Amino acid sequence: MAVEAFMDRARELAERGRYTAAPNPLVGVVIARDGKVISEGWHARAGQEHAEAAALSSNGTDARGASMYVTLEPCNHHGRTPPCTDTIVRSGISHVVVGHLDPDPRMRGRSVKILRDAGVEVTVLDDPAFERQNEQFFHYMNTGLPFVHLKLAATLDGRIAASGGDSKWITGEAARRRAHALRAEAGAVLVGAGTTRADDPSLTARDVPDQPPPVTRIVLDPSLTLDPEGQLARNAGEAQVLVFADKTALDGRQKRLEALGVEVIATPHGANGLDLRYVLKDIGSRGVRGLLVEGGGDTVGRFLRDGLVDKMTIFYAPTVLGADGVPMIGALGLSSVQDAPRFSMSGVEQLGDDLAVTFYPREEASDVYGSG
Ligand SMILES: NC(=O)c1ccc[n+]([C@@H]2O[C@H](COP(=O)([O-])OP(=O)(O)OC[C@H]3O[C@@H](n4cnc5c(N)ncnc54)[C@H](OP(=O)(O)O)[C@@H]3O)[C@@H](O)[C@H]2O)c1
Repeated sequence: MAVEAFMDRARELAERGRYTAAPNPLVGVVIARDGKVISEGWHARAGQEHAEAAALSSNGTDARGASMYVTLEPCNHHGRTPPCTDTIVRSGISHVVVGHLDPDPRMRGRSVKILRDAGVEVTVLDDPAFERQNEQFFHYMNTGLPFVHLKLAATLDGRIAASGGDSKWITGEAARRRAHALRAEAGAVLVGAGTTRADDPSLTARDVPDQPPPVTRIVLDPSLTLDPEGQLARNAGEAQVLVFADKTALDGRQKRLEALGVEVIATPHGANGLDLRYVLKDIGSRGVRGLLVEGGGDTVGRFLRDGLVDKMTIFYAPTVLGADGVPMIGALGLSSVQDAPRFSMSGVEQLGDDLAVTFYPREEASDVYGSG
């Protein structure tokens, strides 16, 4: 087998942690000798064995003189598990092929040096495919802000709810199941207060394989209208609920929510309502690396207006709700098509009768549409 084939397999193994590894990155490992795979591993969950250790401990692998193919640079520090660089050196592995350097400031090539200094041959591919696999982790490590992924379920005419606010359900079961998986992958979900008032959502990740850790639920609620009897407040003990409200709304009403375990955060104003950069910085400072912004249209519009969107997935259902339905994107204040944010489509997938279309902001439009 060639290097590419081992690396493809390692990337495939890394995917097994897609819904459970956060806040850690996805990592997959193949160990091979004489062109044959002798062991495999992946990182399943924060606090559990790293992929390198998992592959080396599998069935008492004798890795002396073998090659290790790993998607991301191994770690070199003590966390909840020992440094992978030590484990690799002790194992007698003679050659390590690294898909991409780790953007964590503690790594960034340092582990490669440690391995080389210990006599291990290291090849670094720096292949963007491995960065894309961990786009959320790379974005967070490079900016300190969560990776913002917009997700909406829309009709063919771009509506996300009927005129009275009913949105259950626009898409079918397969698309809704995927949406829950996207929540788990991000680790945090955000909606506007219009959605909590209309839907009383619980915003949990349900029916996702491998029991992912609970997601953080976040509401942008300037006037602090969140119902203490609603699902989010009542279940705040089960998974974190953060509510960003205008300072002036914190007139004592927050106490009832706080008693239920909701954290209410006094938030300054920007040009476009609550300061979304402040919100992202606050969320990032809590170690939240991914954020699924689920709407509604008004909230999505604000994120787009501020150039804070890193990825967008729209689930299109083969139906229409007409001009009196709720629009999928709120006002953007654009007077010319030239100023419209542009996206590149990266994938289209049919899920039952629905289409999931994924987009990334186009680089060349970054003067209008910043990278966040
Ligand atoms: N199909 C889907 O994918 C989907 C997803 C979500 C929601 N929905 C539907 O969409 C509808 C709600 O959408 P919507 O557009 O009306 O409302 P929304 O986006 O859920 O909420 C808008 C409200 O959130 C608050 N808000 C959000 N960002 C803010 C900021 N930066 N600064 C200040 N306030 C901010 C404001 O609250 P105040 O009003 O208190 O000022 C604003 O009016 C519901 O019917 C829901 O069922 C559909």
